[in-house]
Amino acid sequence: ILGSEKHEQEDIDELIASLPQSKGVVSRFQSLYQNFWCPDNVLPNVIAFQRHHQAKYNDIVLASEPKTGTTWLKALVFSIVNRSRFDISNTPLLTSNPMTLSNPRPNLDSLAEPRLFATHVPYPSLPECIKRSSCRIIYICRNPLDTVVSAWHFFLELARSEDHPAWSLEEHFEAYCKGEMPFGPFWEHMVGYWKESLERPHNVLFLKYEDLKEDIGGQLKKVAKFVGLPFTEQEEEEGVIEEIAKMCSLKTLKDLEVNKSGKVPMTIKFEKRSFFRKGEVGDWVNHLTPSMADRLNSIVQEKISPFGLQF
Ligand code: A3P
Repeated sequence: ILGSEKHEQEDIDELIASLPQSKGVVSRFQSLYQNFWCPDNVLPNVIAFQRHHQAKYNDIVLASEPKTGTTWLKALVFSIVNRSRFDISNTPLLTSNPMTLSNPRPNLDSLAEPRLFATHVPYPSLPECIKRSSCRIIYICRNPLDTVVSAWHFFLELARSEDHPAWSLEEHFEAYCKGEMPFGPFWEHMVGYWKESLERPHNVLFLKYEDLKEDIGGQLKKVAKFVGLPFTEQEEEEGVIEEIAKMCSLKTLKDLEVNKSGKVPMTIKFEKRSFFRKGEVGDWVNHLTPSMADRLNSIVQEKISPFGLQF
């Protein structure tokens, strides 16, 4: 076994060495792998995920681009699927950061079903077994103008905590527009999941951050139905939906001690608190110039709108 692991490691190293590279934001370099930019320190995990993951028919995969509402989606879906095991008084959300509730290196045998996984990998690069199985994929997407601003703050915070020189907003914006952000280009990421959600609506649910902000109750019902656990009339009467929405709100999660300090146990050790900022729709107006907004909107018009996806 050791011999084959060594062989596989050499194989991965060789593959990575052959890929085009650019300057990374969360790592020194990122590589262009299967048409998306992957931080170098994450790429070996992505390849292992592709090669070794074994899907189960009832798995739930949460997919997103970074900074589009991943943390929120994890908290909400965790609460929906585990509502018969935990209620608001004993939910693990009170003691664990949402990022850790779909553990990147879980002991798969001990996970309660349905198992929850989260990934930033674009649809075409998901493990084949996930694409072929009946597992449910829930994708969250967000207006690119707010996403680029959110990512800018996040990377600024990361640079500060690691004593790295920070990028200017202009540099960051340029890289985003060129598609050179982790797991980008963003348009291909969104369109990949969008198309799949149209073709296989029972397996891929496409959500928007903005819709969650506008009507959390309606979106929660949609998610619960999609994962095969619709809210009962009694639950609705008892206010279970409102309870989940409140527990998973930015304010509640941000104010929990567990999310105020320390780092997440992930490949890149981000500060837990950096996942919670303003959570507003339209915050971009405070940061982007009108010409930046025009440029990004025209990318959206050209590369996303033709597929029928609007913001
Ligand atoms: P802002 O930077 O605009 O505030 P991700 O979880 O994919 O990293 O996305 C982070 C963004 O989602 C941040 O946006 C963050 O504030 C917001 N966010 C985190 N938790 C949230 C929650 N429970 N409700 C709404 N927004 C949330």
